[in-house]
Amino acid sequence: MQADLVIVANRLPVDRVEMPDGTKAWRRSPGGLVSALEPVLRANEGVWIGWPGGTDEDLEPFEDDGLNLLPMTMTAQDIEEHYEGFSNGTLWPLYHDVVAKPEFHREWWDGYQRVNKRFAEKCAEVAAKGATVWVQDYQLQLVPQMLRELRPDLRIGFYLHIPFPPAELFQQVPWRRQLLEGLLGADLVGFQLPQAAQNFVRLVRQRVGHKTHRDLVYLPDGRTVHAAAFPISIDFIGFDEMAHDESVNQRAKEIRQQLGDPKKILLGVDRLDYTKGIYARLRAYGEMLRDTELDVEDAIFVQVAVPSRERVEQYRKLRDDIDRLVGHLNGDLGRIGRPAISYLHTSLPRHEMAALYRAADIMVVTPYRDGMNLVAKEYVACRYDNDGALVLSEFAGAAEELRQAWLVNPYDINGMKAALLEAYSAEPKELTRRMRAMRKQVASKDVRHWADTFLEVLAAVQSSHTKNVLPPNGS
Ligand code: F6P
Repeated sequence: MQADLVIVANRLPVDRVEMPDGTKAWRRSPGGLVSALEPVLRANEGVWIGWPGGTDEDLEPFEDDGLNLLPMTMTAQDIEEHYEGFSNGTLWPLYHDVVAKPEFHREWWDGYQRVNKRFAEKCAEVAAKGATVWVQDYQLQLVPQMLRELRPDLRIGFYLHIPFPPAELFQQVPWRRQLLEGLLGADLVGFQLPQAAQNFVRLVRQRVGHKTHRDLVYLPDGRTVHAAAFPISIDFIGFDEMAHDESVNQRAKEIRQQLGDPKKILLGVDRLDYTKGIYARLRAYGEMLRDTELDVEDAIFVQVAVPSRERVEQYRKLRDDIDRLVGHLNGDLGRIGRPAISYLHTSLPRHEMAALYRAADIMVVTPYRDGMNLVAKEYVACRYDNDGALVLSEFAGAAEELRQAWLVNPYDINGMKAALLEAYSAEPKELTRRMRAMRKQVASKDVRHWADTFLEVLAAVQSSHTKNVLPPNGS
C-alpha cells in the first residue's frame, strides 16, 4: 500500500472490543481527535495508521466505512510504558497545567521512544514518494524527526491536540530537548492556540539553541520549521443535519419524559478525566440544590462520563471519587423519581448524543485545562433553534472562540454557581443573542476549514524551503 496522505495517530478511529459472546467487533474510539480527523481522511482518501486498542493482536490493514486503516500492534509492555506511562502518566498531566502530578520514569521514556520509532517506520513504509504525512498529538512527538531521517522526501506536519505548556512547566521533563527535536522534524507544527505556538518557539530557542523569528525556527541544516495555531473544530453541517433529524428530536422528547419532564436539563459530557473538572462541577450543582437556589422538582443534571484510561491509577481514583459524590448527592438531595444527578458511565452513540444535546437546556463544560473541547462546539451545532445556554471554562481552548458563552473559572466554585444560575434564568432573547453568535462562529470555522488551512500552510511552508534565508536579526 502506498498513500499520498498518511495520518498517524496513537489510536485508529475504531477500537477493537470484545462482545459479551466473546466475538470481536469494532467500535468508534473516544475523544475529539477521532471526530475531527475522520471527515478529513474521508475527503482525502488517505491511510490512517494507529493502534486498534487491544494487546498483541497482529491485524492486517483493512477498510472500515470507506476509511483505509492500518493497525499497529502494541504489546502489554508498550501499553504500560508508552500509552499509560509516558503519554498519560507524564505528558498528559504536565501539558494540562500539572492538574495532577506527572511522574517521570526512565523505562516509560524508553517505551515511548520504542513505540514512536515503530510508528515512524510503518509510516516510512506506506507513504508514497513526496507524500504528506500528518502526525497527531502528544503520544507521537518523536515521529516527525524519526520519519524525516528515514524519508527526507516527505512533507511532514504535526498537530498537538492538547495544550502546550509554558516553559516553566515543560522544563521539568528530563527529555525536554529530545521532545523538542522530535517535533522539529516536522515542516509545520500546529497548536490549538497562539500562546502554545509561542511557548514552543521560545523553548526551542532556549533549550535547543536554534535561531527563531516570530513563528519560524531556523535549523542549521537549512530547513525552516513553522509553528502556528490552528484551532480545531467539528463537522458543523454534519451535526446540524443530525440535530434536524426527526428521530433525534423524537428521542430528545423521550429523554425529557424519561427524566420526569423537568423544567430544565443541565448536561455534562466528558471523557472521565481529571482535567475535565467533573467533580467540582457536580459539587457546585449539589450546593445550589442544598441552598435551594435550584430544586430537584425543576432541574436535573445529566452527566455522561465516557470511560477512559481505566488502568491508570489517577483515573481509577477519579472514578471512585465521582461514584461516591454522585451517591452522596442523590442520597442527600434526591426525592423519589427525582434524582439530583442522572449519571451515566458509558460511551453513547452519536445519534443519542445529538438527542441529549437537543434535550439539554444548559450545557456545562468546565475543564481545568483543555486543548479545545469539541463537546462545547457540538452542543452549539445542535441548537439550530438558537436556544440553549453554554457554560464554559475560560481554560478550554474553545473559550477563545465562543465568547458568548457564560465563561467561568472552574476553580471558583461560587463564580461557577453564579454563572449556572444566570444561565438557568436567562431570558429567551438573551439565549438567542448568544447562541446565534456562537453558531455563526462554529459554522464558519468548521473542521474542514481547520484541516484545509493546516494542509495549505503545510504545502506552502515546504515549498518555501528552497528560499530559506535567515532574517537579518534572527533572534
Ligand atoms: O485529544 C486528546 C486525546 O488524548 C487524543 O489524542 C485521544 O485520541 C483522545 O484524547 C482519547 O484518549 P485515549 O486515546 O487515551 O483514549
